[in-house]
Amino acid sequence: MLRSTTGGPVVDLRSDTVTRPTPGMRAAMATAEVGDDVFGDDPTVAALEAEVAAMFGHEAALFAPSGTMTNQIALQLVVPRGGELLTGADGHVVTYELGGAATLGGISTRTWPAVGADLDVAGIADMIRPAGFPSLPTSAIAVEQTHNLGGGGVVSLDALRGLRAAADAHGIAVHCDGARIWHAHIADGVPLDTYGSLFDTLSVCLSKGLGAPVGSLVVGSAERITQARAVRKRMGGGMRQVGILAEAGRYALRHHVTRLAEDHARARRLAEALEPFGVVDPAVVRTNLVPLDLTQVALDAPALAAAAAEQGVLLAAMLPRRARLVTHLDVDDTALDRAIDVLTRILRVAGT
Ligand SMILES: Cc1ncc(COP(=O)(O)O)c(C=O)c1O
Repeated sequence: MLRSTTGGPVVDLRSDTVTRPTPGMRAAMATAEVGDDVFGDDPTVAALEAEVAAMFGHEAALFAPSGTMTNQIALQLVVPRGGELLTGADGHVVTYELGGAATLGGISTRTWPAVGADLDVAGIADMIRPAGFPSLPTSAIAVEQTHNLGGGGVVSLDALRGLRAAADAHGIAVHCDGARIWHAHIADGVPLDTYGSLFDTLSVCLSKGLGAPVGSLVVGSAERITQARAVRKRMGGGMRQVGILAEAGRYALRHHVTRLAEDHARARRLAEALEPFGVVDPAVVRTNLVPLDLTQVALDAPALAAAAAEQGVLLAAMLPRRARLVTHLDVDDTALDRAIDVLTRILRVAGT
């Protein structure tokens, strides 16, 4: 366990990817049946893929090492080389995937303004370039659910239905970066297969909030997932006795989805405690991410992160004046109280 300079346990609010496998998850991993998955011999991976495909009402799924890889595989399935992807300027696929769409998929991206989860569906529909004109036609739209840089915001079902209709009108695909789609499902109560019915491909992660140590899946039609298997191998993502990790994911899906409501409640409590300092509006906190706007306080994000780290609370400085706090499986009420105590003391001093 990480320890702070004062000797107490560190409260790590940088991301929901920092969780450690629970004893129950480790026990499940230890007894998982395995085989060489590149030969298609790993029964636990096959079971995970079938279970996740069924959850989203799709024919098939493919296990891969990371959400970046599953996003990039999926984009290559829905956009041909030289084709165009429309997405948000603050989307993970164009912000944190290091140019993967261009360098790995030969994909040209065009973006709508950074609006997080509050999509302007009519505006996006207007951006779709149809074939038959002397311009690059749009092949697919990518959306993010929940929206990471959008502060964990949830794209509404109405907006997603509107996008699907616009995409269908132009015969193009819709991909969902659903790294935290579980959180949207819990926050809005939308069934996972309802989400699944609105997308041609999804990327979903087992290691963000669900507590598995690694793993993401591409979800789609049987035909697309057959292609995805080849793309994954080309990208170096073929894995061998990986049922050990797949079992962690299966355990996470059985035990750690409904409990996300606790993380959401804690994130809201954290936001309410910090609201008096003018850094966050609790009303915008829908899931487990708490975005901090530090434009009105004396501390910038690196300074706040450094001051909090000294007292054993870790947070992520996303931009010079923007920080992020994330609740997860390893943050209980005691840890949250400690984080609130440390952060409120620092912000109180900064405000005087
Ligand atoms: C919205 C979103 N998509 C994709 C990813 C990429 O996942 P990975 O870190 O497993 O590559 C992340 C990572 O945090 C994410 O937040």
